Amino acid sequence: MDQPGNHILLRGNRPAATAAGRAAASDAAKALAWGDIVSGMSQVSLAREYAEKLDADDPLAGFRDRFTLDDPSLVYLNGNSLGPLPRATLRRLEEVIRQEWGTALARSWDHWVDLPARAGDAVGRLTGAAPGQVLVADNTTVNLYKLACAALDARPGRRVIVTDQDNFPSDRYVLEGIAAQRGAELRMLSTDIDQGLDPGAVRAAVDEDTALVSLSHVAYRSGALADMAAITEIVHQAGALMLWDLCHSVGAVPVELDRCDVDLAVGCTYKYLNAGPGAPAFLYVSARLREVLRQPIWGWFSQHDQFAMGPRYDPAAGVAKFMTGTPSIPGTAAVEEGARLLLEAGPDAMRTKSQQLTSYLIELGDAWLEPLGCALATPRDGSRRGGHVTYRHPRAERLVELLAEANIVTDYRTPDRLRFGLPPLTTRYTDVWAAVAATRAIIETEHCESHD
Ligand SMILES: Cc1ncc(COP(=O)(O)O)c(C=O)c1O
Repeated sequence: MDQPGNHILLRGNRPAATAAGRAAASDAAKALAWGDIVSGMSQVSLAREYAEKLDADDPLAGFRDRFTLDDPSLVYLNGNSLGPLPRATLRRLEEVIRQEWGTALARSWDHWVDLPARAGDAVGRLTGAAPGQVLVADNTTVNLYKLACAALDARPGRRVIVTDQDNFPSDRYVLEGIAAQRGAELRMLSTDIDQGLDPGAVRAAVDEDTALVSLSHVAYRSGALADMAAITEIVHQAGALMLWDLCHSVGAVPVELDRCDVDLAVGCTYKYLNAGPGAPAFLYVSARLREVLRQPIWGWFSQHDQFAMGPRYDPAAGVAKFMTGTPSIPGTAAVEEGARLLLEAGPDAMRTKSQQLTSYLIELGDAWLEPLGCALATPRDGSRRGGHVTYRHPRAERLVELLAEANIVTDYRTPDRLRFGLPPLTTRYTDVWAAVAATRAIIETEHCESHD
């Protein structure tokens, strides 16, 4: 079996560029001997062999080979930023480009025209949405704009939009822009950026003047998971509509849009859905609202009889009315393939592994990172976090650079956060072990260097 940690920390094929990188390598020998037991939710051995055993017992382990992750020394813990390429997607894109575009040309529109709704239904199966409520289109930002405007129009007389200070920038900016255009008030919840949203704070922020509440289900920085059912109910009690951002949720945590009585949702597809850079996003409009809402961008792809080229706009029935212009066909096909792969693995199995991966990382972090000045910036309770784990460290940005030199790809988030993304289909327990061991070695060396 491939041993990523050994490759990374002891590799001889690519010399570490810095003293910290060299130290990461030399510390591997020590790390391999660490057989300590730490206590936590379960007994976890710090030895690498323990991670190997977890990999050997992992029922989802075979899915990693379904991706073009061909560099054996790479530890890729950034799939929550850009997911890797599934082999099935490569084949599908080749077919879309060579056959459907290259040979059949415009005749392919016969079946391309339904693709956004078909891919949407596949994403709907992943998010607990019955068919006909999810559409793949545009990007998350544009979908947020369309749905937020539609929601405000559906609540005339109410002029407050609620979001939180730690929501993703694009979400806050779009809502700020809509509020400015319409003379509405944007009410900002102040959220603990490590522990996430408190339903009580949402309850305190909404009133009879609230039209829309727009929040992220899994926080992009901390990974904190919001209580979708409880918050949606609070918002409904105030008579407002609820719009969830699922960018960090789909493929990481089970989502039950219909069961939680959600009104509206958006999400991207290039993270855990593995549809590739710039792949279109999705939107969900509950069947309760689908015929009532009117979206603000009146494009020809949402026109009732598109090819009649009529003089006036007459919106299509169903979720198709939330289309704008020509969709990206390769991108949408990649979303359909990505969703198929996740459906095959199953949201529950993915959640089980995801929780085990994040718990394992936190156990290793307790033993190796917290004593060195890292602080967990993600909820400790596994039921309150999504698929990534974040640590606070004053030199987080530099740590991410040094890890990258050791072929361990993680992510930095302002102001001082080191983010480990652990998508369950592609992350090995040995990857987690290698990343935490290397982080520890780098911090120790950096500390020594600062005292030279
Ligand atoms: C939580 C969240 N919301 C919104 C976005 C913006 O998505 P897009 O670039 O598709 O508009 C991102 C992008 O990473 C995100 O993480």
